[in-house]
Amino acid sequence: MALVLKSGFTFDYDNLFGEGKVTQADLDSYAEDLKKAHEAMKVMRETGFIKAHLSKDGNPEKVYFSKLPYITEENGKLNLNSPASIKRLHDFTERIRNNVDVVVSLGIGGSFLGNKVLFDIFCGEFWNTWSAEKRKGMPKVYFSGQNIDARRTGDIIDHIKAIAEHKGGKIKVMLMCMSKSGGTLDTMSNFMVMYDALKKCDNIEVEVVAVTDPNMEKKTLLKQLAVENGWETFAVPDGVGGRFTVFCEVGLSTAAVIGMDIEKFLEGARDMDKACQNEDIWQNPAMLNAALKFAASEKHGRNIEVMMPYGDYMKSLSEWYIQLLAESLGKQFDKDGKEVCYGRTPLVAVGTTDMHSQTQQHQEGALDKVVQFIKVEKWANDLVIPNAFPEAKKLADISGVTMSEALEVARQSNADALKSNHRFNACFSLPELNEYHLGELLYLLAMSVAYEGELANVDAFNQPGVEAYKRIMGPKLQELKASK
Ligand code: PA5
Repeated sequence: MALVLKSGFTFDYDNLFGEGKVTQADLDSYAEDLKKAHEAMKVMRETGFIKAHLSKDGNPEKVYFSKLPYITEENGKLNLNSPASIKRLHDFTERIRNNVDVVVSLGIGGSFLGNKVLFDIFCGEFWNTWSAEKRKGMPKVYFSGQNIDARRTGDIIDHIKAIAEHKGGKIKVMLMCMSKSGGTLDTMSNFMVMYDALKKCDNIEVEVVAVTDPNMEKKTLLKQLAVENGWETFAVPDGVGGRFTVFCEVGLSTAAVIGMDIEKFLEGARDMDKACQNEDIWQNPAMLNAALKFAASEKHGRNIEVMMPYGDYMKSLSEWYIQLLAESLGKQFDKDGKEVCYGRTPLVAVGTTDMHSQTQQHQEGALDKVVQFIKVEKWANDLVIPNAFPEAKKLADISGVTMSEALEVARQSNADALKSNHRFNACFSLPELNEYHLGELLYLLAMSVAYEGELANVDAFNQPGVEAYKRIMGPKLQELKASK
């Protein structure tokens, strides 16, 4: 059983729905809630309204992520994607090409995770070792700010200095500081350390680009600095929470830096949004995914979701999803103020790597998981396993097949084995790992948590829980500073 879109994107739920799994009766029991959730999504698309959603300051706040796939003049007024903003991103690409040697993208959480997905999938592990020609003139890219780790930050600084020395002459380094709130400790501490260290180098020219809330009346600290120093800025618009920013200028400015096809990425998201407007649950990938996972959790105790793409460069996609699911749905109180302590727990896994570690748990451990596979049907660069040692029968037996065929046999075998032991699993299939299908997948996952928020009656767009440690950390840092 599978939902197949015209594009070829497939959601195979055969091992999640049916006898001994989530049943039709389970879904029928949510019929009214599903109708209401679908209605709420329609209202959100049209007006940005989400019942009971409040901002960090406790004020009603609009939710605009579903507008991001659309490139319209009207969206431009809300600092969302417009023909002018997309043109500016293209101009940015051309300004950087053959002009900037190194970009350091600084950010954490929503200002990091989506960017890393784009980089890993479209650049891979060795981008920074390639020649400028092979990178089509685009810069080397490093990430920082996603921890407060002096060792790694120091290493990046030393590495950039070494690049400058090796090249001779002067190199240009662009620090892209990304923070919606404009003052996040992790991001800003790394930014200041790096800015200060690199500025002192005669052979390094430093340029800063700030990606932050564009509000000019109530400027963020980063915006204030950008205005004072004349730094170029991109926007993290109102109504777009961190975990949805991969479709706004946070993700798109990174896409511009690596020369990705931005329009195709948004087109994939847009087509998925259209599919998710279908009121028939069997034709609506987000409603179906949310309903099946919600029922698996509520009716069958499968409240852990293992996100397990097959392919190394998709690991960061799992990590992006962890934030999306955890921050959106892990809530103590529902929209009516009742204590519910809701939230399925997400886990990162990668196939085949984790078949040699986690799979034992998935196969025989507690019956509390749904394993969500992601597979790519056609890989761009496949390799045939050669008959390198014909005398070794075991090795000769696997020769002649491609590595991606072997990868899929491994995934399918894992799915079959899980199924044989009543372990729920499902699979998203991407015809190819390109901008369009990645846009489809990321948008589907974002829209699914929005549906699930409605089904569970929790606000999927706030994150009050992360304020608790911040309230403790602030004074502690002050104390530390005073003791110096
Ligand atoms: O989803 C979220 O809102 C968070 O993960 C934020 O993205 C993260 O805390 C970083 O915040 P900021 O972009 O304001 O620096």
